[in-house]
Amino acid sequence: MNLERVLFSQGFGSRRQCRALVADGRVTIEGSVCTDPDADFDPGTLTFVIDGAAWRYREHAYILLNKPAGYECSREPQHHLSVFNLLPPQFATRGVQCVGRLDQDTTGLLLLSDDGQFVHAFTSPKRKVPKVYLATTRHPLDDVQLDALRGGVLLHGEPKPIAAVAAHARSDHALELTVLEGKYHQVKRMVAAAGNRVEALHRERIGGFALPATLAEGAWQWLDEADLAALRTG
Ligand code: URA
Repeated sequence: MNLERVLFSQGFGSRRQCRALVADGRVTIEGSVCTDPDADFDPGTLTFVIDGAAWRYREHAYILLNKPAGYECSREPQHHLSVFNLLPPQFATRGVQCVGRLDQDTTGLLLLSDDGQFVHAFTSPKRKVPKVYLATTRHPLDDVQLDALRGGVLLHGEPKPIAAVAAHARSDHALELTVLEGKYHQVKRMVAAAGNRVEALHRERIGGFALPATLAEGAWQWLDEADLAALRTG
């Protein structure tokens, strides 16, 4: 694949912009500046440096963001900044999208990808992937609320009650809730239906993959094969 196509596929701009990036001497491969946009490379193993930042060719992007509060999961946000403001611009250019949405005030584990099948697999209502949330509640938790969440609560507009896979109190005001669906404001609505109120919400885990403690709030990282395998378990 020639260098122009490699850079284009990775979201570094239009074909013309990618040609210019190379011609302007901003792309280094194996320690030497490459100024020929038509130079041929095996993309599978290719790493390149653009303006000092190193990248590896990836057929698809699988990304994890530790989402802070105050960011919308949309490329055209209404009232806040977009989570794309926290990511390198080439991700949006190559068609990366959020894998399901978190509310602007929800924090924690957010996946993004440009692999349509992956996005579908993790957002389809048919594929029931467990998602673990930690909700800080306004009122103290009690067994009546926890039993209601485990037994199923009826949400406005839903034909039948929705039950949490697991619900337990880590402390008086800290609820760990595992749900399979990804309905609009689902956790907040379930907790409200059980007679309490969510004051803060954090997603900790999807499938068998937990948000790494080492990833700072607002920071992102690539997902590797082991992470993707963990996502599919649990
Ligand atoms: N449930 C909610 O209520 N909000 C989220 O952001 C995610 C799950």
